[in-house]
Amino acid sequence: MLGTTTSKILQMLLGNEYISGEDIASTLGLSRAAVWKHIETLRTLGYIISSQSGQGYSIVSSPDIPLPEEVTRHLPHSSIDWIVTYLPQCTSSNLVLKDLAGKGATEGHVIVTDHQTAGRGRRGRQWLSDPKSALLFSVLLRPKLPPDELLPLTVVIGVVMAEVLRNLGVNCELKWPNDILVDEAKVCGILAEISGEPDHTDYVIIGIGLNVRGSRTLDDYGATALDAHITPPHRGELLASILLSIEKHYRQFTRKDIDNILRRWEDLSATVGRRVVIHSATGDIEGTAIGLSPSGGLYVTTSDGKLEIKSGEVSLRHTPPNQH
Ligand code: BTN
Repeated sequence: MLGTTTSKILQMLLGNEYISGEDIASTLGLSRAAVWKHIETLRTLGYIISSQSGQGYSIVSSPDIPLPEEVTRHLPHSSIDWIVTYLPQCTSSNLVLKDLAGKGATEGHVIVTDHQTAGRGRRGRQWLSDPKSALLFSVLLRPKLPPDELLPLTVVIGVVMAEVLRNLGVNCELKWPNDILVDEAKVCGILAEISGEPDHTDYVIIGIGLNVRGSRTLDDYGATALDAHITPPHRGELLASILLSIEKHYRQFTRKDIDNILRRWEDLSATVGRRVVIHSATGDIEGTAIGLSPSGGLYVTTSDGKLEIKSGEVSLRHTPPNQH
């Protein structure tokens, strides 16, 4: 979104407490007047930049925009080559990334946006959020596994999000497969979209919508946002901590070493031990959720015995789990 030179100046400002106009000018081969113009561009975006004679420029505060410069400065030692693109508005970050994936984009491409005109939710639903009130992004992964081995990845990403939010002090829980709830209200949704052949995955797009600030739209849906529970961090920093956590958990997933992640999901779960109704393509199934299968399915005991649910929508019931 920023021009190359403005982006470089922003990176220099973010990496230094103070930096003189002269240093910026000589590093980038610019005049002092040109540096000042780029600083003005950043101020127009909402950056508050002080300019002290003898010390130079300093960022006093950054606007809460998840610009790539704000994200990647927190990702210095990543094993995935994260390439973050910020779009003020798009149809759906999943759709934009699908297009890039089809054109050969590599693993680690991320699209983050402030507003979606056609946000996609699970099961063909819309995903609505007010401009600038959420962290909306999609991540491109290219796991070397067939599509039918990818179910655990959705559970793994649920754990990623729950861990990041818990580290921020949000007392969240997971609803199978990967909704994040606080006091039973949804704070974050995850949509994984897979493209490939039966024996080969071309790509997976993980789309995440995290409600950061409350709005009428969320109230209408009975959803919640981070600011009802904590003072949210800058969305750039938040995205960086999510990407770092994805990286760590995704490595475990590709090594097929996810037992501890599955157990962690159960510990963080609002689902296990509860009466549930699974709305599946073949009808509703009622029972008690008892845990996760090794492939990330939900084990449910029903009047017909123990079932492994691999797809469907879960409703949590409020009756105690004293019968099937
Ligand atoms: C759900 O239904 O719970 C999943 C919602 C996923 C929404 C996110 S927002 C960013 C990304 N782009 C989309 O169009 N959808 C996902």
